[in-house]
Order: sequence, then C-alpha cells, then structure tokens
Amino acid sequence: ASDVYKRQRKNEGDQQMKKVLVFLMMAIMACSMLLTGCGGEEKKAADSAKVLRVGTEPVFAPFEFPKEGSKDLTGFDIELIEALGKQMGYKVEMVSMGFDALIPALNSNNIDVAIAGMTITDERKKVVDFTESYYTSGLMIMVRKDSNVKSIDDLKGKTIACQIGTTGENKSRTVEGAKVKAFNTQDEASLELKNGGADAVIGDAPVIEYYMTKAGKDFAKTVGERMEAEPYGIAVKKGSKLAGDLNKALAELKKSGEYDKLYTKWFGEKK
Ligand code: ARG
Repeated sequence: ASDVYKRQRKNEGDQQMKKVLVFLMMAIMACSMLLTGCGGEEKKAADSAKVLRVGTEPVFAPFEFPKEGSKDLTGFDIELIEALGKQMGYKVEMVSMGFDALIPALNSNNIDVAIAGMTITDERKKVVDFTESYYTSGLMIMVRKDSNVKSIDDLKGKTIACQIGTTGENKSRTVEGAKVKAFNTQDEASLELKNGGADAVIGDAPVIEYYMTKAGKDFAKTVGERMEAEPYGIAVKKGSKLAGDLNKALAELKKSGEYDKLYTKWFGEKK
C-alpha cells in the first residue's frame, strides 16, 4: 500500500513539474515575442535616424580591435568610419562578423558598408563596389625567431598559417607545395605559428608589424620587405550611392586635416 502511495505522490509531483514547465515555456515564448517585437520597432526608429550599419571583423589591430576591458571597438578603420559617418550625418553602428561573411552581408542588405582593412581586388570588385583607397598596405611574412626562412621562396613545401578569405590566404596558396592552414582570425594564425603548428604566417604588413610590438616580440620575427602594394577600400553593395557619398566625405576629411590627424595617431608620421 505504501508503494502505491509513493507512486501516487510521484505522479502528483510529475504533474506539478509539468505545470511549472508549461508555465515557464509560455513565459519564455511571451518574452521572446515581446523582445523581437520591440527589436523590430527599434530598428525602424533607428533607420529614420539615419543609421549606417558598418560591418567589420574586429581582430585586426591597429585597424579594428576591442578597446581594453570593453566590447567597443577602436582602431584606425573605426575612427575613420566614425568621422566619415559624422560628416555624412549618420549614426554609425558597428556589426562584427567573420571576414569572409562581410561581402555576403553587404549583398543580403544586413550591413550598409564594410570597413575591415579590406584590400580592393579585381575579384571582389566583381561582387561589390569600393570607395577610393584610404590606406596603402602590403603583405608580410612572420616566422619564429629561430627560423632560417629568408624569403617566400624558402616556404616551398612548408606549412603557412593565414586568415580565411584574405589576400594573405591567396598569397599562401601560390607557394609551391605549401600546406596552407586558414584560420578565422589573424591572431589564431599567429598562435599557430607560436605553437609550432605552422612555419610561417602570411598576412597584412601593418597588422603583423603591430603584432610584433605586442605578443609577437617574444617569439616571432618578420622576414623581407612588404610584398605587393594593397589598397584598402570601404566596400558597399554594388550600385549603392554610398560609395560616392563616402568618397566625398573622405575628400573633405583629407582637406580639413582630420584624415592626417587619424593617420598619424595610428601609424606615426606619413612616410
Ligand atoms: N587586407 C586583407 C584582405 O583584404 C586582409 C583583411 C583582413 N581584415 C580583417 N579585419 N580581418 O584580404
């Protein structure tokens, strides 16, 4: 009899549990409906306040990286797009994503512009438009301090780490017999070098040079000179009038001296 009683108690308990669960589920559904509803309205309001949705991949110091102890971004690109947005009367809203997601995000209207140390290439020009170049970059090789690699020719058959979807990856893939490991971020590629999983990193010179003044100085060195001249541009959806507007604003920032001020702040005197 006590067995039956126990079972009954257990059933009552289960039933109570079920009620609580159903209630919780309904509460969660109600909340999420409220939230998405609000989000939609917020977005509409923001649109009318002229918001510029700017996509970037934010692990790319000194162009875009999180401020210390915060998730707000800083860097040359960030301050440049903020100044450009201000000039054009927009409120800038940063959206972070993988580098290889930026162009698809432009084309699906999830962002309005992308600024991410992005090189203007013929291949990309087929799918998006670019502003005039706002910075001239190049590629660089980084190896461990004890390496005897002297140039890109010494990388034949070696393992090269790089960031996915970048010009550094393209360059790595031109090296005969090389094994290419492409990572989501430049930092992960550098870590692979540090941990011995790669013989070299190929990436953007100013980013590697910056890294050499930070974590890189303990284990890495650069070899050779900057390879290629790579112009960075701000990407927009094909046919968007934002490219022209941004060019106009950029010209104004150059005239007013604000562009130079930003440049010296992040890179020192122009060579
Ligand atoms: N300049 C190179 C490219 O366009 C690398 C850019 C990577 N940018 C970034 N934010 N991770 O392919």
